[in-house]
Amino acid sequence: MDLYPFFDWLDTSMLADISKAYGGVFAVVQMFHLLGMSMLGGMVLVGDLRLLNILLKDVPSELVIENTQKWFTIALAIVMTSGIFMSSAVAMKLYYNEMFWAKMTSLGLGITFVYVIRRPLLKFKHDTLNPWTIKLVAVTSISIWFTVAAAGRWIGFS
Ligand code: HEM
Repeated sequence: MDLYPFFDWLDTSMLADISKAYGGVFAVVQMFHLLGMSMLGGMVLVGDLRLLNILLKDVPSELVIENTQKWFTIALAIVMTSGIFMSSAVAMKLYYNEMFWAKMTSLGLGITFVYVIRRPLLKFKHDTLNPWTIKLVAVTSISIWFTVAAAGRWIGFS
């Protein structure tokens, strides 16, 4: 599926008129993008490090997961909204940027992993699950979200 028409449209949309004309607005949205990312990464790390029995060992892991998942979803909404706005300013540059597509692919993978595997699985009481399955889920989750963030930063270098 070629998304060129979408990026072509985005490049000349009303959103792009704003993001291209007002550097200050872009900077504020970019700040939200990075704050949202910190929140997202924080929630991922706290949840996964609890699953790996590294931190918050005196708090039931079900409780840690329940709380971090809620704030993860809010953080995801912030990064996606701010990300779409930022994309409108550089739509054509992004369309031809491999790192952008690496980021979007790993993001799609991450979202699928969270809502199709991690979340449904961790709804069960954790002591009824295989400990190695839990560890595998935690390590996979950290790896995917690290890749998304690293690819995001790499767009700027490439
Ligand atoms: C729909 C989702 C997202 C979109 C459309 C999006 C889009 C963007 C865009 C357009 C940039 C600026 C690239 C540039 O020109 O340098 C950017 C930067 C960045 N994004 Fe995202 N992003 C999204 C989600 C995420 C997520 C989930 C993370 C982290 C887990 C993330 C981490 C970053 C980082 C680290 C930067 C570099 C910031 C900087 O150099 O100032 N993004 N993103």
